[in-house]
Amino acid sequence: MSQPALTRRSAEITAAAAVWRRGGLVAFPTETVYGLGADATNEQALARIFAAKGRPADHPLIVHLASSAELPRWARDIPPVAWPLAARFWPGPLTLIFRRAPGVSDLVTGGQDTVALRVPGHPLALALLSAFGGGIAAPSANRFGRVSPTLAAHVVAEFGTVVDCIIDDGPCAVGLESTILDLTGPLPRVLRPGAVSRSALGEILGTAPEIGGAGAPRAPGRLASHYVPDTPLRLVTDAAAELAGRSALPEDKPVAVLALRTPLAPPPNCRWVGMPNDPEHYGQQLYARLREIDSWDCALVLVERPPTADGWEAVHDRLTRASGSPGR
Ligand code: TXA
Ligand code: MG
Repeated sequence: MSQPALTRRSAEITAAAAVWRRGGLVAFPTETVYGLGADATNEQALARIFAAKGRPADHPLIVHLASSAELPRWARDIPPVAWPLAARFWPGPLTLIFRRAPGVSDLVTGGQDTVALRVPGHPLALALLSAFGGGIAAPSANRFGRVSPTLAAHVVAEFGTVVDCIIDDGPCAVGLESTILDLTGPLPRVLRPGAVSRSALGEILGTAPEIGGAGAPRAPGRLASHYVPDTPLRLVTDAAAELAGRSALPEDKPVAVLALRTPLAPPPNCRWVGMPNDPEHYGQQLYARLREIDSWDCALVLVERPPTADGWEAVHDRLTRASGSPGR
């Protein structure tokens, strides 16, 4: 978004910051997904996030900051490697986990001694954060366990009038939630894969970090059945072959297919959705396509497994969770 475009929206930005200051909820776009934001120092406002989402109180929130200069206000014992990571990836789709600074609310941290921080790479989000002048706690703007919103219309469908203000800036560019990197253990660990790949992190860390691991802090994005669409989702190798042996599939409702290849003649009673064959565009469209498929009232959605090449890790992670199978 250009500077003149931001200037045109300055009244909206000022109004949203005022809503935050009086303890309200503002849904706003980030480069990953839309967030449901509240003043991270206002416990009543934070409680409203949990109530709106139906989210268990022990599940921590990410605090969004306008710049890495604000890190020390929220984190203590900041490891030196945080600074080159911030310089390389912020603003952008990376969340870093630190030891929390004194005074950071238990509602933000889920009662843990750690805090998640991120500087989002969306000009409007940054303008909102600067206008507010503090940390904004913002989970994805969806009810607990549902796929994240990548359009303002998705936020309206999730929350209607429950939020005080929804800022619309069209589709999110990344479409999948940020990479979460935990810097509080002996070795950095990825708790949630995202657009910042492990190999990109490895360029700063020296070696690519491992995913998850025993004793990892609570992160609902890591629950096996998080990110669930309404329509049952099954991961398959070859959707056309599955449909050819249809006896196992229900006949009354159509079956949706999400695949990289599109057959010349899709099987009958099947709604075939062609997906981009690069991970960036696939990830950008995935949640919107799943919501669209939900609106079709299909019996099932068959998703053909995308390639396992580098760059597809976040897509595989979300698809595996959406299918309800742990994968790891
Ligand atoms: O891309 C994103 O990160 C989006 C946008 C809005 O910024 N936000 C987002 O928030 O995905 P949410 O609440 O839907 O997911 C945040 C994840 C959760 O899995 C949460 O458990 C984890 O971050 N998390 C937050 N604080 C944590 C902490 N202290 N330790 C471990 N995980 C934490
Ligand atoms: Mg979420």
